[in-house]
Amino acid sequence: MSENAVAVVILAAGQGSRMQSDLPKVLHRLGGAPLVGHALSGARSLEPEQVIVVTGHGSEAVTRAVAKLDPDAQCVLQSEQLGTGHAVQQALPQLEGFQGKVVILYGDTPFIGEDTLAALASHTADLVVLGFEAEDPGRYGRLVVTDKGLERIVEYKDADAATRQIVLCNSGVMALDADLLRLLIVRLSDDNAAGEYYLTDLVALARAEGRRADVVTCDEEETLGINTRAELARAEALFQARARARAMEDGVTLSDPGSTFFALDTVIGRDAIIGQNVVFGPGVTVESGAEILPFCHLEGCHVSAGATVGPFARLRPGAELGGDVHVGNFVEIKNTVLDEGAKVGHLTYLGDAHVGEATNIGAGTITCNYDGVMKHRTTIGARAFIGSDTMLVAPVTVGADAMTGSGSVITEDVPDGALAIGRARQATKLGLATRLMAALRARKETR
Ligand code: UD1
Ligand code: CA
Repeated sequence: MSENAVAVVILAAGQGSRMQSDLPKVLHRLGGAPLVGHALSGARSLEPEQVIVVTGHGSEAVTRAVAKLDPDAQCVLQSEQLGTGHAVQQALPQLEGFQGKVVILYGDTPFIGEDTLAALASHTADLVVLGFEAEDPGRYGRLVVTDKGLERIVEYKDADAATRQIVLCNSGVMALDADLLRLLIVRLSDDNAAGEYYLTDLVALARAEGRRADVVTCDEEETLGINTRAELARAEALFQARARARAMEDGVTLSDPGSTFFALDTVIGRDAIIGQNVVFGPGVTVESGAEILPFCHLEGCHVSAGATVGPFARLRPGAELGGDVHVGNFVEIKNTVLDEGAKVGHLTYLGDAHVGEATNIGAGTITCNYDGVMKHRTTIGARAFIGSDTMLVAPVTVGADAMTGSGSVITEDVPDGALAIGRARQATKLGLATRLMAALRARKETR
């Protein structure tokens, strides 16, 4: 264990009753990721030895989500919500033998910045609290600071009128030495206005032990917690504003920043150009110099350098676009790899497929990948030419340099270099159109 070892405890047991939801609060999504995912990614920025999430309401669902988001995180159950101090106590068995700093975060507070967390974790005081000057201090805990540092935290409910005048408030984030936490946590009592075990009482207990407590401050914006749908919507707006600003700082062109929507894990390379009304769901990477034209929806996909997508394209999970690939309007791509230079210009669905280098997919092509029960694969070789309106009934393979005739229903494999035509032969009846029209008009007149 290194000297500066960090462990993170994320409190996520609360019900969040003001969300009016059957979903546990920390699973509501912000930037495409559950709230607890934001706390986990903040935690990860500290390169901690351990991350422990305290669950309670909806613990099964929360535990499942945490396992997906961060397989190394551990979950512990707080079966009764007896307060923030009690919640942290539930994590202590997991921290047995751990030496270093314990950083405590909330699962419903997604904006604490990495720099702020680093400042807390590296602070030399025995206990550090993240505070902020509140525009409206409302019901936050108040930080009582003297020239000897942080003296105590007084919860709003327990505060007298003078203490309520203090505007320096507790964000809830705290960092303290693991041994000190173990020593003090058993001394917490629930003898207070709320009848809860307050984590905040650790400050006065540490001071009584002669330890040093201090405050690190941050912008109020970072401490924004989510308790209602309205706050979730405000948080989403803030998340998007920050993501847009960051993308532009990183050298991405956003034609209309206000209509570009990012997810927590969106990665976009320098000199990429993003048009108006583009939505990035979770799991998207766009390489340098790629262009996403207006009105596209991307999720779980990768777009390589030089590729162009849209307008009006949908890239679903597993879409992998190689260099210089072109995906045009009204094209949907799922679980499909497009090798370098492949082109899918118009009105096409490709699912569970592999498209070789420089292959051209004609307008209206569909991979018929689903038989009602199972999904099947379509493989198309390099430099192939798929005629417009081809139905590729999977499983099926079209070889390299092969072609399909327009309107074909391809049910059998097509060898390299072959041309496959699978459609009814055309019959042309001379003069029949003229005669048919005349007959129809005559019938209408006699009605
Ligand atoms: C807490 C702080 C308060 C601070 C405020 C900031 C205490 C006693 N008070 O108050 O000083 O200004 O946060 O928002 O710590 N939780 C559990 N188990 C529990 C209780 C809470 O996991 O038994 C979790 C909640 O899910 C939530 C977080 O801890 O994520 C904070 O709990 P909450 O009840 O919102 O605390 P506040 O009363 O707002
Ligand atoms: Ca709260």
